[in-house]
Amino acid sequence: MEFSEVVRRRRMVRDYDPDRPVPPEVRERLLEHAIRAPSAGFSQGWAFLVLETPAERDRFWAATTDAGAPDGWLTRMRRAPLLVVPLSHKDAYLDRYAAPDKGWTDRDESRWPVPYWDVDTGMAALLVLLTAVDEGLGACFFGIPADRRDAFRAAFGVPAAYSPVGCVSVGYPGPADRRSPSLRRGRRGVAEVVHRGSWGAAG
Ligand SMILES: Cc1cc2nc3c(=O)[nH]c(=O)nc-3n(C[C@H](O)[C@H](O)[C@H](O)COP(=O)(O)O)c2cc1C
Repeated sequence: MEFSEVVRRRRMVRDYDPDRPVPPEVRERLLEHAIRAPSAGFSQGWAFLVLETPAERDRFWAATTDAGAPDGWLTRMRRAPLLVVPLSHKDAYLDRYAAPDKGWTDRDESRWPVPYWDVDTGMAALLVLLTAVDEGLGACFFGIPADRRDAFRAAFGVPAAYSPVGCVSVGYPGPADRRSPSLRRGRRGVAEVVHRGSWGAAG
């Protein structure tokens, strides 16, 4: 598929065919592409928790969602045969930038204009999303609620130093997929969001 087509076709898919697992070679390609993401100082402070068996996926949903009858969103999302949780590792960045070529030996977090560990892990997640499209599959990036992060870590033995930035569900799209109602807001156009040369008309 042409790259521009991959970009245009990418959209979040929220229903999956539960009987069509992600082929192992596709799963591995998703992960191989994820680690091609850029990272500040080539810190590569990311990790990916891959959940595939029904027991692993059940444990994820139990830890991250409310008990009781699932709503429509959850019913459809639970059909995804593959979950990839990208996790950011801040310490890897503080360590990397304390090295002689960077010199931030005080490990002072106020030096960081934005949390590059989350930025880079988000870029890796985007590569997973785009690769899924390129392979003819669907995927959705969704959040893990703030009050469920500890339960998530406990369920999978994730060290406290690793922070899940969200989760990517992957699979062949199902028939009941629903686009996000948020899309009714419309895509903001280039003219609206791009500032050329200076911010305002007055410069
Ligand atoms: C950081 C982030 C968090 C998101 N969280 C959720 C989520 O919790 N549940 C969900 O269904 N979609 C989630 N989305 C998907 C957005 O709703 C979606 O990207 C947006 O509506 C645009 O639609 P599209 O990606 O299909 O073009 C999230 C997307 C991002 C980038």
